[in-house]
Amino acid sequence: MKRTRIAQLIKSGKIGACFTIMGWVRTKRDSKGGFSFIEVNDGSSLKGLQIIADKTLSNNKEEILKIQTGSAVSVTGKLFDSPGKGQKIELHADEIMIIGQVDPEEYPLQKKRHSFEYLRGIAHLRPRTNTFGAVARIRNALSFAIHKFFQEKGFYYIHTPIISGSDCEGAGETFRVTTFELDNIPKKDGKVSFEDDFFGVPANLTVSGQLEGEIYAMALSDVYTFGPTFRAENSHTSRHLAEFWMVEPEMAFCDLTGNRELAVEFLKYLFSYVLDNCEDDLEFFNNFVDKTVLATINGLASMDDQFMTYTEAIDILKKAKVKFEFPVKWGLDLQSEHERYLCEKVFHGPIVLVDYPKEIKPFYMKLNEDGKTVRAMDLLLPKIGEIIGGSQREENYDLLYERMLAQGINADDYWWYLDLRKFGSAPHSGFGLGFERLVQLVTGLSNIRDVIPFPRTPGNLNI
Ligand code: 4AD
Ligand code: MG
Repeated sequence: MKRTRIAQLIKSGKIGACFTIMGWVRTKRDSKGGFSFIEVNDGSSLKGLQIIADKTLSNNKEEILKIQTGSAVSVTGKLFDSPGKGQKIELHADEIMIIGQVDPEEYPLQKKRHSFEYLRGIAHLRPRTNTFGAVARIRNALSFAIHKFFQEKGFYYIHTPIISGSDCEGAGETFRVTTFELDNIPKKDGKVSFEDDFFGVPANLTVSGQLEGEIYAMALSDVYTFGPTFRAENSHTSRHLAEFWMVEPEMAFCDLTGNRELAVEFLKYLFSYVLDNCEDDLEFFNNFVDKTVLATINGLASMDDQFMTYTEAIDILKKAKVKFEFPVKWGLDLQSEHERYLCEKVFHGPIVLVDYPKEIKPFYMKLNEDGKTVRAMDLLLPKIGEIIGGSQREENYDLLYERMLAQGINADDYWWYLDLRKFGSAPHSGFGLGFERLVQLVTGLSNIRDVIPFPRTPGNLNI
């Protein structure tokens, strides 16, 4: 008989029908009356299926005795309403087969609950737990919703490169890509000879798809990219990864106001989408991870478009009656403590800050008339801090060139980027949403390492 996934079986609700399911045993309990209750989960939903195996089983009973927590099994049987507590339906087995066996002495997932830290050490098995199964399904739903949002709006999905010759954020925090033998790097006049390397020029993993996104926006108008990005920053925080996913829309003929409005509309759409489509998983996170998650997402799904300038925010922070680790003064690159204070204590919700000092922002942001600030925007959320960073881009050739010089960037390396300002230049804007920070918010998981399947952080590359 053809296999049915448990999620589909539950949805079908076909009491009395016959099904074959396959999955992994979560628990098994043998009752005195010769019954066994076996909980099987195949990951298709948070809910597993209760299997009742009794004497009427057609294949031998010894098979049931051998079943362990973690065994892969195939069960064929009839679906019934369940009289027991905790589940609505159950499958009365006619036949049970063990597909893959486990040694209970060795299988690490024996307990019902394990610490997140322990589970990080077994990244190959943690997706079999409720929490990590739910994280994977939420990531899937959010990814789908991201494409749905932009596709419905007529944005084109552009595949920007992973290997890049530029450093978009200008922070020098890139991972090098090379085929040089590390203990034998060719040099000329004491300098590394990149001519002899694979690409003939220095190459790195991209920190952002923005610059290439701009190229396509200046041809297709509204585009987005959604892919992995890499940063070699030595941050040991619960919000930083060395490899993370970023969603980056880029729009031609769009200013900072349009950009900000799109960011807010986008987030609201994503929160509504998970509320409508991920009920079971969200309820699980709300019950077992963070009791405020549902209220938070519900609130954000109808959030207001609040914004203020960086300068105004600095004034508020200066007056705050708390002692910040980083003292507040104009020009300060806001830290998570400041961002969270603004969201949690002042605005009690999200806030977009705009017009940051040019010194603390990358070269590509458009200079304001004051000559001191740039058209940047950061969207800040309670608990998370910055989740979105974006800007209107400098479309004026001369001003962009000056900013590059001022920031020590070799303009020759960015000739193509400058060309966009020479040939039919136009105002354009975009932003980047950190996908894992979004998943943190939706799941309530406090450590970013628990919202990506295989986290990469300084000193850490398990699998
Ligand atoms: O503010 P960032 O650095 O902006 C850019 O890269 C722009 N080029 C985006 C654009 O305008 N197209 O990064 C954008 C977002 C941040 O707000 C944050 O949510 C996330 O990416 N982010 C990280 N997430 C996890 N780990 C890290 N190390 C992150 N660095 C940034
Ligand atoms: Mg930023």
